[in-house]
This record gives sequence, structure tokens and C-alpha cells, in this order.
Amino acid sequence: MSINVSFTLNGEAVSAHVASRTLLVEMIRERFGRTGTHVGCDTSQCGACVIHVDGRSVKSCTMLAAQADGTEIVTIEGVAKNGQLHPMQEAFREHHGLQCGFCTPGMIMSALDLVKQNPDPSEKEIREWLEGNLCRCTGYHNIVRAIKAGADSMRVG
Ligand code: FES
Ligand code: FES
Repeated sequence: MSINVSFTLNGEAVSAHVASRTLLVEMIRERFGRTGTHVGCDTSQCGACVIHVDGRSVKSCTMLAAQADGTEIVTIEGVAKNGQLHPMQEAFREHHGLQCGFCTPGMIMSALDLVKQNPDPSEKEIREWLEGNLCRCTGYHNIVRAIKAGADSMRVG
């Protein structure tokens, strides 16, 4: 069976006809070419696939494409504006919050949701929040520093 799904993707109204079993992450990557959203596991553990659905961070491998109907979706490609990196992206760059970069889009999307809910998170709160995001390069120390710095500059700016 196939279905029609209409939603907003990074501010643009889009729609797709997909098989009803299609995962949201598959639709985003394969139908819409937003390949910054990664797939790092098949057990819903790694967080490489985190995007925002209606303003909240979600592991897009845990949702069906059909569940996206009528929602507003933001992927990592929608975070920079007018060619300017978002302050959280800048902070990752500045504080070496990435090594191979595979986990980075999911880390940033998770971090943005954290800061939305808690604009000045402690190191402990950041570490707890990142429980669902794995970095295979184990660069956690700098990721936490980057998120702290990103939160600081988002409060200022
Ligand atoms: S690909 Fe979604 S949690 Fe790993
Ligand atoms: S930077 Fe390589 S997986 Fe995190």
C-alpha cells in the first residue's frame, strides 16, 4: 500500500507518495535528498538521525513517513540561515566538537532542542540529554564544550 504525505521541510511545503512502511528517515534522505540526516544503527540507539518534528527533536528512524503528514520538519540542512552557520554549528566548529562528523547533525539537532527547553544547561544536564546520541569517535568532551558554548552564544545573540 502507498500513501501521500504532505509536510513542511525546512520551510518549504513538500509532498511525496511513498510505501506505507517507509520510515521518515528514508523519505527525508531518499526522496528529498537531505542526506545530512544519517542512519547509524538499526536499533534506535545512535541518534544520528535526529531531526525536529513540530519543534521537538525526534529520532527519524523511529517514525513512519506517514506520521509526518501535516507536520513541520527541520533537518540539519535547515539550521544555517542565509549562508551563515547557526551559533550552535559555529560552536561545534570552534570547539572541535566533531571528528569524522557522522554523529554531528544528530548532536546539533538534539542540542538545539535542549537549549530551547533549557537555555543555560549545565555540563551534567548536557551529558544526560545526550544519552540518546552516540559518537563512535568518542569525542564527547568537546561536544559537551561546544554545546555549552553554543548555548551561551544563543543567549547573547
Ligand atoms: S539511525 Fe536512528 S537512532 Fe540510529
Ligand atoms: S565525530 Fe565521529 S561519530 Fe561522532
